[in-house]
Amino acid sequence: MKVISLLNLKGGVGKTTTAVNLAKGLSNKGKRVLLIDTDMQANATSIFLEDEMQEDTYKSFSDLISDEEGKIEDYFYSVSENLKMIGADLSIANADLNLRNSFGRDTSSILKNNLKEVKDDFDYCIIDCAPTINLVTMNSIIASDEIIVPIKIDKFALKGYETTYNNILKTVNSYGLKTKTKVLFTMVNRNNIDKQIIESIPMEHYETTIRFQAKPITESSFNNEVVIDTQDSNVKSDYLNFLHEVEVEDK
Ligand SMILES: Nc1ncnc2c1ncn2[C@@H]1O[C@H](COP(=O)(O)OP(=O)(O)OP(=O)(O)O)[C@@H](O)[C@H]1O
Ligand SMILES: [Mg+2]
Repeated sequence: MKVISLLNLKGGVGKTTTAVNLAKGLSNKGKRVLLIDTDMQANATSIFLEDEMQEDTYKSFSDLISDEEGKIEDYFYSVSENLKMIGADLSIANADLNLRNSFGRDTSSILKNNLKEVKDDFDYCIIDCAPTINLVTMNSIIASDEIIVPIKIDKFALKGYETTYNNILKTVNSYGLKTKTKVLFTMVNRNNIDKQIIESIPMEHYETTIRFQAKPITESSFNNEVVIDTQDSNVKSDYLNFLHEVEVEDK
């Protein structure tokens, strides 16, 4: 199982849109995928588990991370063939506080240790992160084989990504990990200004860039769908190319 996190400390850069399309897209291709929503905004969860979230018995990622005895499988919800999900909710804010107060427990590797239990059951685990660094995000970084940093190309694009990178590197180095970090440029207008912004960012990046195209993205999210499952559009074809790149990388 390969674990990939979508992380940028900046909000609204396309982490969730990329996570849900990546997870659903890989599962459409027959890969066994586990999607984990670790963001209390629960945007990915509301796309795939809108009804389940309303149930009294709903169990979320925050329960998993606070649960010292439980089994990770108890937190799975089935989304579609090949795609399982662990959802989020607002209580993730409390989970972070509880972790900080759990003295004597290795609170940074809880997710990694849980994922070890199911490593043969999935080909990919995709983790959608919140735009913050806290113990929950640390757990995602430490559990990951690869971290994809979506960068939204606009006039603020150059702010924020270095902080994200430095935080990832600090964690990766202090835990002696070999995590790969790669940028994905999102919401790109394919003009000269955007080309110059992209060229000024020196980090390793995916060749595919995801174009800015609001209509198909907005419509699909209103319908609790992912854009790659809707009718053809530029942004759909970009996400399909990106999926292909992710798959080729693993061969
Ligand atoms: N390629 C795109 N073209 C146009 N709009 C997009 C595109 N990708 C995402 N969006 C829109 O941009 C907004 C932010 O996207 P998304 O929720 O994926 O970002 P995020 O990084 O997960 O945000 P947050 O930090 O709040 O979790 C959403 O309204 C989404 O619909
Ligand atoms: Mg998000």
